[in-house]
Amino acid sequence: CGIMGYIGAKPSERIIVEGLRKLEYRGYDSAGIAVCTDSGMKVVKAKGRIKELENRLNGHDLATGTVGIGHTRWATHGKPSDENSHPHTDGQMKVSVVHNGIIENYMELKKELEETGVRFVSETDTEVISHLIASEYEGDIVRAVQRATARMRGAYALAVLSEQEPDKLIAARLHSPLIIGLGDGEHFIGSDIPAILEHTRDVYILDDGEMAVLTRDAVELMTIEGNPIAKEPFRVNWDLAVAEKDGFDHFMLKEIHEQPRAYRDTIGNRLLGAYPWVHLPELTLTPERIRLFRRVHIVACGTAYHAGLVGKQALERWARIPAEADVASEYRYRSPLVAEDTLVIVVSQSGETADTLAALREAKRQGAHVIAITNVVGSSVAREADDVLFTMAGPEISVASTKAYSTQLLAFYILALHMARARRSLPDEEFAPIVEALRKLPEQAEQALKQAEEIRSYAEEISHHRHLFFLGRGMDYAVAQEGSLKLKEISYIHSEAYAAGELKHGTLALIEEGTPVVALATQPELYEKTVSNIREVMARGATVLGIASPSGSRGDANLASRVDRVLTIPDTHPMLTPALSVIPLQLLAYYASTALGYDVDKPRNLAKSVTVE
Ligand code: G6P
Repeated sequence: CGIMGYIGAKPSERIIVEGLRKLEYRGYDSAGIAVCTDSGMKVVKAKGRIKELENRLNGHDLATGTVGIGHTRWATHGKPSDENSHPHTDGQMKVSVVHNGIIENYMELKKELEETGVRFVSETDTEVISHLIASEYEGDIVRAVQRATARMRGAYALAVLSEQEPDKLIAARLHSPLIIGLGDGEHFIGSDIPAILEHTRDVYILDDGEMAVLTRDAVELMTIEGNPIAKEPFRVNWDLAVAEKDGFDHFMLKEIHEQPRAYRDTIGNRLLGAYPWVHLPELTLTPERIRLFRRVHIVACGTAYHAGLVGKQALERWARIPAEADVASEYRYRSPLVAEDTLVIVVSQSGETADTLAALREAKRQGAHVIAITNVVGSSVAREADDVLFTMAGPEISVASTKAYSTQLLAFYILALHMARARRSLPDEEFAPIVEALRKLPEQAEQALKQAEEIRSYAEEISHHRHLFFLGRGMDYAVAQEGSLKLKEISYIHSEAYAAGELKHGTLALIEEGTPVVALATQPELYEKTVSNIREVMARGATVLGIASPSGSRGDANLASRVDRVLTIPDTHPMLTPALSVIPLQLLAYYASTALGYDVDKPRNLAKSVTVE
């Protein structure tokens, strides 16, 4: 969900709605706004996108209000509806609250409040917070928020507005991100930087257990117990322009096309033309410590997990260290064997995913060394990990992740080489060709993008189908899983990624005349076996799009005659193919979605950043 708050001299309605629009990628089930006007607190909310809220705002006059809060929601407790939208208020409309996170003990608090006569109008946990604050209010809203938060368990990022004290805005954070923007005679609350970047680059990033009291002239920081704290503001060094579409129809297409640049920036000066090949001064890890690790656990969610599947193979092959990849929501609950000799790598574009963050904390608690691969400077994951490797993808807005995934791959490759050198596990002569191949990726990504038109016509064909398979072995299987997820997320076509050799053990039963299959065959060692698997599906009537690479086909120029169509990716080292083969898969998902007329950047039911477990 997204939070935006404003206190200053200007009418707050516009500023808040504009801020919410920038945050819409965090959730778009409903939106709402509360403003303190000359005639008291006004709350307007609507199910659906922000434009629905704007339509409804036309009938209200909030112009005199210069302090307010707003929210765009990704539903957790309670279906998307007007009633369940934030802000939530107490019965008297004295306090309004917007909230990200989940209050775990809300049932208990709700029952208690109901016994005192409070009537609830929504199904949300957030409504409990507004009533709780109102019931704790004894003339000081700051104290009321402190007393209320002391009773809440779970996760929250809160912005609170009070009709009795309209010259204050209150923000509080526990396990859900929140920032404070510092202006001149005006201050902002945001759940993410894009919300406020139009107004200021100077922000405070709240830590867990901290709150801020904003007035027009000052921001007072304290713990939620009320102890004052001091903090250095953080200066944002990227531009809003990168968060705009730049002439592309959708953020996703723009972000796909940004990959060559993102590759260049992620490689930066981390790769060298000669020994020691890799330069990662940002890591505190010493070569000695790297040699002591006995195992690696990679933990992430969604697309970032798929990057982890590639990372696992690079670490095992090059650094010769046993590596496992887990989805974060499973990891903590399987009693992972973690100790000081364990390196845990958490991967997260946003750096705020609740499951990933919880896994990071658990790993640290058990003594592991944690490296974060993330895209967001100042994010929770970046701040809590022992070491951070930033991907330089730039802000990613589309819900379906593209450039974040591919730059995570590059970060893994670079880290695996760095560890391989420390562990002396890769012969010297093997470094040069890998490093050289990595440095060619930005240019090759540009070439891979040139096939967009061909992919568009294939995407139009598959958009009429209800099922699709992605097949591959080894690295191709890892990237097939990402290709399949991408298609599902935005085109709603059901697809499955299968290890090509495993299909015949059951799933082959689903192949029938005309079933589309995307078969990746870029791995020279596995090429012949993959071709046999392709034959198996074709014999059952499948139509196959092959994705090949020149040296992956071991000189077999005939894949084209065997399958219905072939796309060839630029030639690279077999371990690096995912960074190129994912590009046609991303484009395939994109064009399938546009062919079907869906809202590519905002797929149904999803959100970019999921800060609940
Ligand atoms: C959400 C997004 C996915 C993303 C996942 C992990 O579910 O919709 O696209 O892969 O979260 O996000 P993270 O920011 O941790 O990489």
